[in-house]
Amino acid sequence: MKILVIGRGGREHAIAWKVAQSKLAEKVFVAPGNAGIAKSFETVDLDEKNIDGIVDWSKDQHIDLVIIGPEAALQIGLADALTEAGIRVFGPSKAATQIESSKEFAKELMRKYNIATAAFATFDNYEAAKKYLDVKGAPIVIKYDGLAAGKGVVVAMTAEEADAALRDMLLDAKFGQGKVVMEEFLQGPEFSLLTLVNGKQVVPLVIAQDHKRAFDGDKGPNTGGMGAYSPVPIIKQEIINEAVEKIMKPVAAAMVAEGCSFCGVLYGGLMLTKDGPKVIEFNARFGDPETEVVLPKIKSDLVQNILDVLDNKETQVEFYDDTFLGVVLASKGYPEKYAKGIKINGLDSIENLVFHMGTTFKDNCWQTAGGRVLFVIGQGKDIHEARENAYEAVKKIDCEGLFYRNDIGFQSC
Ligand code: AMP
Ligand code: GLY
Repeated sequence: MKILVIGRGGREHAIAWKVAQSKLAEKVFVAPGNAGIAKSFETVDLDEKNIDGIVDWSKDQHIDLVIIGPEAALQIGLADALTEAGIRVFGPSKAATQIESSKEFAKELMRKYNIATAAFATFDNYEAAKKYLDVKGAPIVIKYDGLAAGKGVVVAMTAEEADAALRDMLLDAKFGQGKVVMEEFLQGPEFSLLTLVNGKQVVPLVIAQDHKRAFDGDKGPNTGGMGAYSPVPIIKQEIINEAVEKIMKPVAAAMVAEGCSFCGVLYGGLMLTKDGPKVIEFNARFGDPETEVVLPKIKSDLVQNILDVLDNKETQVEFYDDTFLGVVLASKGYPEKYAKGIKINGLDSIENLVFHMGTTFKDNCWQTAGGRVLFVIGQGKDIHEARENAYEAVKKIDCEGLFYRNDIGFQSC
């Protein structure tokens, strides 16, 4: 099979790396990819949002399967266009992507189908939102209803913070003209449950835990994710089973009932509260950086698993026992402003699995080229070994423009 992966980050590097191991894969392309991906795979110079370009190129090259990484491509209907052109695609339609792109859609769906999540109300007007805040008080969570690159969520510990967020989002339209969802503040460990879904069929993968805050001890601003590991020993198998049965399967069935059947990776961002697992958010795609630790855990042929799911056949996903733990090396200043083009030394001296998130290769050396730059993975028989193995490698990378968290995995250590 000729397989095309859409996207340009660490997630797509991991997907290409895993599908290339399949007996079914003759050739793996990535569009547009990045410099690190281009070292091992053929990259295609097509932007992930260039729908016509991707469809035409895929037809021309007789691509047998397209796997879409980024939400931005899904949200504008790339999967719909490929399907219409008769090309097999693993990724949801524009309508189904709403489960991620519209918080209001996701929350209303959960309300209608009784899926456990934080109590909420939606507002498009500051005065009404402020009244609700005055009644509910803090802590409270304010979410912009749309894609805001992980920055549209404010967990406000005080009413002043909450009010400032409402003003930013509703009066100053910081992320654009949109609604705001106000949510009950929940507490407990979070985990990410990625599932392969087609209609009502739900195949769970092993869970992972992300680290959304920029700095050690979960301090600093929210980011796209600063590190991840899999499995997550603090979340017991019976909780995962409960999440699959009471959250992921019902939501997949709900999407079918609502006429926007989901096909692709449905990602549950879940929190284990004192009342059991509850939904924080859904994503309509492989999580990043969770994918970079979940795919190395998979022993079975992922392409076969995906094809089975596309055919609604039963499939066996098998996993290795080892733990994988990955640390993001990010540009100093991320998630705000940061410099690019800073030399990275030592990358060739480590043997660990490394996925490139945002690098270029210029003047015969690696350089930074994005907010999140590298994802360095450690492997071991447990989380302690995996963590040690990851940080040993991270310390061999020498770059004055990068920073990382020192405590990835702390909740389970
Ligand atoms: P989201 O983009 O919806 O995943 O939110 C980003 C982060 O904000 C989550 O990973 C949580 O840590 C936090 N968060 C979101 N919703 C809530 C909530 N209802 N209660 C407590 N924390 C939350
Ligand atoms: N790691 C969270 C996400 O992919 O959105």
